[in-house]
Amino acid sequence: MEMMKINNLSKTFTTEKETQVKAVEDLTFDVRDGEFVCLVGPSGCGKTTILRIIAGLDTPTSGSIIWMTKNHSIGFVFQGESLLPWRSVWDNIAFGLEIEGRDEKEIKKEVSRLISLMGLEGFETSYPRELSGGMQKRVAIARAFSIDPDILLMDEPFVSLDAQTRNILQQEVLKIWEETKSTVIFITHNVDEAVYLADRVLILTPRPTKVKYEVPITLPRPRDRTEQSFIEVRKDILAKMRTEGD
Ligand SMILES: Nc1ncnc2c1ncn2[C@@H]1O[C@H](COP(=O)(O)OP(=O)(O)O)[C@@H](O)[C@H]1O
Ligand SMILES: [Mg+2]
Repeated sequence: MEMMKINNLSKTFTTEKETQVKAVEDLTFDVRDGEFVCLVGPSGCGKTTILRIIAGLDTPTSGSIIWMTKNHSIGFVFQGESLLPWRSVWDNIAFGLEIEGRDEKEIKKEVSRLISLMGLEGFETSYPRELSGGMQKRVAIARAFSIDPDILLMDEPFVSLDAQTRNILQQEVLKIWEETKSTVIFITHNVDEAVYLADRVLILTPRPTKVKYEVPITLPRPRDRTEQSFIEVRKDILAKMRTEGD
């Protein structure tokens, strides 16, 4: 079942010098309930803009987003740094639940479940600055999943990490996604990452961006990057990214 439809969405920014930047033009796609969708596109094409509009942090110039359910909670893992530096690991993960006004007992149960799910035991009282980049991402992911969002938006969350840490965190995200049955829209420009994670990859054009190709990934999970079938899908997506036009 579809949870959200994006119809002919466009976004034009007017800069301080009054010039117009067309970031998104005529973008259309659906997201199904429980689906893991990856958006892949060149840097500067408008990916963050799309996520910000879906999250309601910005408004489209034209077009619409239709939600199939009246109430939908949204989680967001931002591109840059997003932990609260003055809060410990535990308190960072508890933040969203506190905002929602959950009772103390429930918060405690949920935070400790996420701490163990994300392998953060022993770091509960540490502060973000005391953690490696990979650990900080684990905290950000735990926090995003804490409110059990209907849809989770992740904006190039692993971009600054080394390949090994990245691969481990991809597995962690899949584990938590399977467990919580949330819907995820995940932005990356790493094709290998998209093929490993996604049910469906949407290849975006350069700016102004729209969907150029839609590629369902039917490889069984857990996926093996060294398998021929995986490599073939990766090749196909890379070739589709290189082709001109739409
Ligand atoms: N608030 C803004 N004002 C003006 N231009 C913006 C604004 N936000 C983004 N842009 C422009 O829109 C384009 C797409 O940006 P963005 O969505 O961040 O790309 P991506 O995330 O794919 O790298 C860029 O050219 C960027 O400079
Ligand atoms: Mg971006």
